Amino acid sequence: VRGERKRAEHMSDGECISLEEWEAKNVKAVVLGAAGGIGQPLSLLLKTNPAITALGLFDIVNTPGVAADLSHIDTPAVVVGRLPPNDGLKEVLKGADIVVIPAGVPRKPGARDDLFKVNGGIVKDLATGIATTCPKAFVLVISNPVNSTVPIVAEVFKKHGVYDPKRIFGVTTLDVVRASTFVAEIIGKPSAAPDIVVPVVGGHSGVTIVPLLSQSSHPLPSDLASDKFDALVKRIQFGGDEVVKAKDGAGSATLSMAYAGFDFANKIIRALKGEKGIVAPSFVALKADAAGAAELTKELGAELEFFSSNVELGPEGVVKIHPLGKITSAETELVKAAIPELQTNIKTGVTYCLEKL
Ligand code: NAD
Ligand code: LMR
Repeated sequence: VRGERKRAEHMSDGECISLEEWEAKNVKAVVLGAAGGIGQPLSLLLKTNPAITALGLFDIVNTPGVAADLSHIDTPAVVVGRLPPNDGLKEVLKGADIVVIPAGVPRKPGARDDLFKVNGGIVKDLATGIATTCPKAFVLVISNPVNSTVPIVAEVFKKHGVYDPKRIFGVTTLDVVRASTFVAEIIGKPSAAPDIVVPVVGGHSGVTIVPLLSQSSHPLPSDLASDKFDALVKRIQFGGDEVVKAKDGAGSATLSMAYAGFDFANKIIRALKGEKGIVAPSFVALKADAAGAAELTKELGAELEFFSSNVELGPEGVVKIHPLGKITSAETELVKAAIPELQTNIKTGVTYCLEKL
């Protein structure tokens, strides 16, 4: 019964594998930055996933305490928390299947890209640890600015000769979660939010966040005033600002991000365990799927090394990068506005590595 419940929880859609196959696969998940505002609730949520058999926590502070606390929860994952001394990072990363990175400083009111100066170095060092310890792990990057930190991870992996573009993901799920919530509000059905699917493409900052509301599973009211529509788009693009402002200098989204990071990590784990047909937007290297990239590049009318589009996931990572499909002229304009900013952000990450590696 427990096994069946487990499968029902984690394989609710898509194609199923047998329960025996499902249970045979152990999964080690690791959180880097595990003592932080995102790291702690994310680690808690991961501990509740019975598919995870080992949970490694690393931070520069407090991980022994967080690990001891979580280890009392009666779920299968064996929890280990380590600090930097004595090769703590390597110890935690050993044998990891999935590594989630929420390490780094969050934003105070101001631009997200400013974080790069600090977070670029943190992500570079952590990526080096992954590349030299568990290069086959799926890497899920949360640290901002995602549009630049994902290219850093890619460059570090290239430098170490272990780059596989199918396994490195920028987590843009919070934008997708926000789009569902805000659309539910507009259509007056808050309880529908979990079922609302809006593809959000581009990247993860301001104008690079492009919600494709015309493809929403739940159409917006046909008489929605254009100013209300524009406000909805802006709210999805700048949802992070709402939280930063409300927290008044005490950081940015942590709890909703932990939820979103958990949601995306679960999709990756289900794919890793053999479930087919899982699709979610994520910021990935277009090199991960040459055919998908060709179609997407044609639609974008521009060359981009990384882009967030709907991505089909499989046991080896990216299976297919989906095209944008049919979009409205207003959405075409949003995509056009996102491209130069994305190109600049990506170049920032790559150039940083060329100088530092
Ligand atoms: P936080 O300051 O609460 O936590 C960050 C943690 O990282 C801290 O515990 C800190 O000790 C740790 N850390 C710092 N340097 C480290 C290192 N070298 N190795 C390991 N751990 C290290 O910040 P937060 O609110 O949890 O945010 C973390 C990051 O996530 C920020 O960059 C923020 O902008 C980003 N973020 C991204 C999204 C997204 O949608 N992708 C959403 C929200 C926040
Ligand atoms: C968000 O979208 O909430 C995060 O990227 C944090 C931020 O700085 O806005």
